[in-house]
Amino acid sequence: MNDIAEPELIFKDQKLVGHNIDKITRELKDLADIFSDKKAYAAINGDTVVYKVESSFPVAHNTEGGLFYGITYLYPGKVGDEYFMTKGHFHSIRNRAEYYCTLEGEGMLLLMDEDGNTRGEKMLPGSIHYIPGNTAHRTANVGNTILSFSAFWPADAGHDYATISEHGFSKILVEQNGVPVLVSNSSVKA
Ligand SMILES: [Fe+2]
Repeated sequence: MNDIAEPELIFKDQKLVGHNIDKITRELKDLADIFSDKKAYAAINGDTVVYKVESSFPVAHNTEGGLFYGITYLYPGKVGDEYFMTKGHFHSIRNRAEYYCTLEGEGMLLLMDEDGNTRGEKMLPGSIHYIPGNTAHRTANVGNTILSFSAFWPADAGHDYATISEHGFSKILVEQNGVPVLVSNSSVKA
């Protein structure tokens, strides 16, 4: 009897390989609520891929004590001056934390607490980001190549996308004079 097994999951040739990999693709048309410049948004083909996510769910959703793993591939691009970004979310169970670990590319992790204070953390290959509980998070690609990062989060965390879809983050990340800057989000309805 051999007690040694092959790995069940492997990141190989720039993709996640294993059984039951969950794959989602977010195109621009799926992200109508998040970009500020509605005119610029309308001028870009809605089929444009903004990001893809490959995830492994080794236990059922909402399993207390379980962990999930995923890799996000966020494409370079902008809508007006605003960088391509993910939808962003709080966790449904607000106190659940998460780790992001950057694999490649150049990005920004946007973090917003429940009082609406938004800050950014630079993402670069090898950077590791602890996202505390009670903190909304989204990533933006500020480079010219794919930004990819792995994520580890509790299986019972859940995703509350609706709060961000409705209110946005208090700041948006835009390019000014060739560099990313956080500016007040005038479209915030909160
Ligand atoms: Fe999360």
